[in-house]
Amino acid sequence: MAAPAAASLIHLAATACSPPRVRLRRGATGLRRPRAAALAARAYKVTIEHGGESRVVEVEEDETILSRALDEGIDVPHDCKLGVCMTCPARLVAGEVDQGDGMLSDDVVAQGYALLCASYPRSDCTIRVIPEEELLQVQLATADD
Ligand code: FES
Repeated sequence: MAAPAAASLIHLAATACSPPRVRLRRGATGLRRPRAAALAARAYKVTIEHGGESRVVEVEEDETILSRALDEGIDVPHDCKLGVCMTCPARLVAGEVDQGDGMLSDDVVAQGYALLCASYPRSDCTIRVIPEEELLQVQLATADD
């Protein structure tokens, strides 16, 4: 009579020590799959005009236009990549970019100027690389006001 009682105790102890059952959603590979929509960055078509040529590239909303241009082999002027040296000036011809991290004054941005290294697309857009002197003149004229 003692043997069945011992077996019941062993069964109870094994059940109490087993890990909780957790159901995970798994993909075909058996690995947990993140929600694709939550991870996909939105991309925009950006037309870059430079040196008499025009190229359309896809730029994700979390990358700068300069970074994508360089990855695509477009030889645009640049140096610091931090929005400080102003060697990557451009003029926004159409569309919208976020350059909230850039060093240009709000007045200069309102006139359509941008720094490629500080510009994140927020719509399909067209941006033209301009001579550094053009941006410096605008920046100085705005500072005098
Ligand atoms: S590379 Fe220096 S400001 Fe853009």
